[in-house]
Amino acid sequence: MPSTSSPRTAGSRPVPVLEVDGVTVRFGGQLALSNVSLTAASGEITGLIGPNGAGKTTLFNTITGLGAPNARGRVRLDGTDITGLPPHRRGRLGLARTFQQLQLFSTLTVTENIALAAKRKGTDERPTECAARILDLLGITHLADVRAQNVPTGQARLVELGRALATQPKLVLLDEPASGQDQQETEHFKDLLQQIAADGTGILLVEHDVQLVMAVCSTINVLDFGQLIASGTPAEVRNDPAVIAAYLGTEEIDVA
Ligand SMILES: Nc1ncnc2c1ncn2[C@@H]1O[C@H](COP(=O)(O)OP(=O)(O)OP(=O)(O)O)[C@@H](O)[C@H]1O
Ligand SMILES: [Mg+2]
Repeated sequence: MPSTSSPRTAGSRPVPVLEVDGVTVRFGGQLALSNVSLTAASGEITGLIGPNGAGKTTLFNTITGLGAPNARGRVRLDGTDITGLPPHRRGRLGLARTFQQLQLFSTLTVTENIALAAKRKGTDERPTECAARILDLLGITHLADVRAQNVPTGQARLVELGRALATQPKLVLLDEPASGQDQQETEHFKDLLQQIAADGTGILLVEHDVQLVMAVCSTINVLDFGQLIASGTPAEVRNDPAVIAAYLGTEEIDVA
């Protein structure tokens, strides 16, 4: 399993593996993100939730370099300012992601998809050995030689996670990874996320399955119309009046 060294420290405080600082993103006249700041720690699962259109994927795109923030906005990875870097440089520095719309190479096998990511990263481990190790970790060794296009969505989500892990990331961003998974798959997925975090990797999780988020995240950030309206433990966020108001009528959060 990839693992990070223990977080570097600034004074006595650990430096978060991810720091997003004052990020604003506009699409034409529309404010998709408004002065958003948040952090994620190594070895922890940090949640990012919010209703449809809140700006979650836009924030992921800003963190990974698929979109630029305002001039003042900053993104730091393990203390290094990566705001102006292209996506592949951020990948080399330890950032990996999965996509809301699956983006596997459909005609390649599961092993080939994962081995390709390992090869691009250029680690000491042989790419096919890396793929085999990750498939074992994810419990999908039986899919090794199946073409990605023939893998059901729930398990394809695991393949995409495997591809991210093959780059030995310090931080992995997961955009709705449980979407398309049945209840049993989601239970298994929950255990996997906890195992990956326990091995030292930071995880930033966007997910509409609020029960999953509440179960695994140490800190949850809530976006609504591009504004960060709450940040705290699952209990704090669940009881926050602004969060309840944002989710009223959506049935996505238990507002009782
Ligand atoms: N490339 C773009 N051009 C114009 N508007 C965009 C673009 N990408 C996102 N938006 C708009 O920005 C807002 C935030 O979208 P975003 O996809 O980040 O939301 P989200 O929280 O990921 O939503 P969902 O839960 O539905 O995935 C939305 O109003 C969306 O329509
Ligand atoms: Mg989205």
